Amino acid sequence: MKTIIEPFRVKVVEPIRMTTREHREAVLQRAGMNVFLIDARDVLIDLLTDSGTGAMSSEQWAGVMRGDESYAGASSFHRFYDRLHDLTGMKHILPTHQGRASERILFEIVGGDGKVVPNNNHFDTTRANIEYSGAKAVDLVIEEGRVPQSRHPFKGIMDLYRLERLFEEVGPDKIPLVMLTITNNSGGGQPVSLENIREVRRVCDKYHKPFFFDACRFAENAYFIKKREPGHGDRSVKDIVQEMFSLVDGATISAKKDGLVNIGGVLLFRDAELAARARNLLILTEGFPTYGGLAGRDLEAMAQGFEEVLQEDYLQYRVRSVEYLGERIRAGGVKIVEPPGGHAIYIDAASFCPHISPEEFPGQAVVCALYRHAGIRAVEIGSLMFGAGGRRPDMELVRLAIPRRVYTQSHIDYVIEAVLEVYDERDKLKGLQITEEPQQLRHFTARLQERE
Ligand code: F0G
Repeated sequence: MKTIIEPFRVKVVEPIRMTTREHREAVLQRAGMNVFLIDARDVLIDLLTDSGTGAMSSEQWAGVMRGDESYAGASSFHRFYDRLHDLTGMKHILPTHQGRASERILFEIVGGDGKVVPNNNHFDTTRANIEYSGAKAVDLVIEEGRVPQSRHPFKGIMDLYRLERLFEEVGPDKIPLVMLTITNNSGGGQPVSLENIREVRRVCDKYHKPFFFDACRFAENAYFIKKREPGHGDRSVKDIVQEMFSLVDGATISAKKDGLVNIGGVLLFRDAELAARARNLLILTEGFPTYGGLAGRDLEAMAQGFEEVLQEDYLQYRVRSVEYLGERIRAGGVKIVEPPGGHAIYIDAASFCPHISPEEFPGQAVVCALYRHAGIRAVEIGSLMFGAGGRRPDMELVRLAIPRRVYTQSHIDYVIEAVLEVYDERDKLKGLQITEEPQQLRHFTARLQERE
């Protein structure tokens, strides 16, 4: 059979609410044309993020009931620890409430004034935590990773030449560690090859530096390795995951992605001394090291989620449904970041509405149109998100992030139809101007209005 189906059936349903165009228009006006300010009940299909928005399995919910809520040494912690240890081989495994808590602790230890942290592309919160520590965050993804139409199979890989040059220029003393984000979210959900991971390891060994993953979407990355990298087609995804982690000294993970849970994170170390310092900070702000700011039931759900995410029929359905969305809107003429990533499709808004200049937020115009037309919530990743203070991002994108195990094929078909109908009317889209702008992270709370 060629048809790839959702490898699950539905046991619990949550109604979504149909609304009229007039209602959505009023909602949009009330929200100052900012979809972060819209209530979820007014959204039909919510593609704002794939983070914490997935559906848990019956086994995960059963785990929630089994959760051991003891303060110290809960059995749920041991199940969580054993699962992560099996996958990563790391000895020191700390639970945190989400990815950015892991980042905050890591960079409080290794960051600081004058330090420089390379990555393929830092995710916003990673960058913010590095900069908050006084260090500088540097993006070294390959050139193809910055070009939307390039179809490199591993567009998330690190430019090794630039990495070595950075070591030579700033000196190894200034670089506390090297990071790789798998998959590369800010670059379009693009994977990193095993070969590149091995090469980054080699550079780190040359300069005697630790190597860390930002491993939020590690299973999707491993699946791309299996499918695209020569020599790995016959391996299990779990085997690839284990090899990936064998090449690093630690990782930060937001379990809200490939952990298949609604809340949770992990911080991993091979080194006992770094782990001891992290554990002290964890106790200070998150919680005792066997629960790290979570309930026992959350650890139980994570232990189960980190196993389920490696099931290959799940990963096949996951990657294929995102790819299908990309293929169909591309066939209708819409330009996207190529090839489709693991968790989201990124529409190239600059080519979608060339009549709207970056100062008038073409991505936000598309986001508002999708909501107004079909009740779909997407997110702008362009001049509104990154353009404060006159900065100009490389690309004007709209991200359609797909929550895990939540929407069916017909929901995706609905999204395709909506994108193509908005595309047909693209000449009518209007640019926007900001009417209220907060000091920081303006895209979350800014208010805008359409230009006449
Ligand atoms: N690293 C990457 C690559 C991420 O995509 C995220 C979150 C984080 C770290 C932080 O994790 O949210 O658990 O604190 N990404 C979400 C998104 C928010 O929508 O892409 P967190």
